[in-house]
Amino acid sequence: MIQETEKENKMKEQLAKIRAEALAAFAGAQDSAQLDALRVQYLGKKGELTAVLKMMGKLSPEERPQMGQLANDVRAALERALEERGRELEAAALERRLKEEAVDVTIPGKAVSLGHKHPMSIALDEIKEIFIGMGFDVLDGPEIELASYNFDRLNADEGHPSRDWSDTFYFDKDSRVMLRSQTSPMQVRAMETRSLPIRIIAPGRVYRKDEVDATHSPMFHQVEGMVIDRNVTMADLKGTLNLLVESLYGKGTQTRFRPHHFPFTEPSCEMDVQCHKCGGKGCPTCKGEGWIELLGAGMIHPRVLEMSGIDPNEWSGWAFGMGLERTAMRRFKISDLRLIFENDMRFLSQF
Ligand code: DAH
Repeated sequence: MIQETEKENKMKEQLAKIRAEALAAFAGAQDSAQLDALRVQYLGKKGELTAVLKMMGKLSPEERPQMGQLANDVRAALERALEERGRELEAAALERRLKEEAVDVTIPGKAVSLGHKHPMSIALDEIKEIFIGMGFDVLDGPEIELASYNFDRLNADEGHPSRDWSDTFYFDKDSRVMLRSQTSPMQVRAMETRSLPIRIIAPGRVYRKDEVDATHSPMFHQVEGMVIDRNVTMADLKGTLNLLVESLYGKGTQTRFRPHHFPFTEPSCEMDVQCHKCGGKGCPTCKGEGWIELLGAGMIHPRVLEMSGIDPNEWSGWAFGMGLERTAMRRFKISDLRLIFENDMRFLSQF
């Protein structure tokens, strides 16, 4: 009996010790992982409290209920403390996250820098707008072209200087396939694929064997224009081009038509615009001429119509071809052609 009382006392002591230690440990846990480890240590299957409970079997039947009650009290106290500390830690963790992840909606946002159109696109879009307004369609065509479209069908026979190897990029030694040297083959393509009457412009890249300098590039852009209808005259050509020039450079801008030669037009001309800088008196911009050349044009040669199956007795037409870089350079006062293609943001951001 004395022995059993001793055992009982010892268990009581152990329970009190576990309780005190566990409560202190729970209170000191810094996060829920630590707390969980402590739960296993004290309340788990192999935990300290369980070890004491296992010794219950060694007590006398009279002692067991009292001891059982005590052990249950300790367990309940530990579980309560665990739960409480768990809640505290959770609340603290939430508080910390709210602080760390707080979004300050009053901080100014990062500005998204939006690009804008390239000066060449601005100039081309203006030209398209003007012609679309007059009922023209805008055509796109191949940059790799057949020499027959680029030359033969435009009445430029073998022996024409622009067909020379030193002027044109050919793909084959028979000189059949090439990088188009002008947008004029689009005239032929339009005649082939469209029904009459025809009103088109065809902008695009063209290629010539030129050295790069302030006014030359082996790749540049042209805009081709063509009208074929009944009773079309040179007066229609002049009227249309004058309207183009006034839209681009302002009302009252003077033009001048000079005789010229192109194989695919007859008669042919070049059109100059009065210098915007000096108003025609002559200055460095127009090299003292008072005029600046803008494009080539003319009445479509009857042979060109015939080669595409159009009867020149019934139909007539005019065409023009203008350089787009020049137009953009004049429009934006750009002094060097190379700037247009170098993609230097310091240059491009000015437009
Ligand atoms: N294709 C000519 C060139 O590149 C420009 C040209 C002249 C186009 C007269 C035409 C035209 O349509 O009628 O120099």
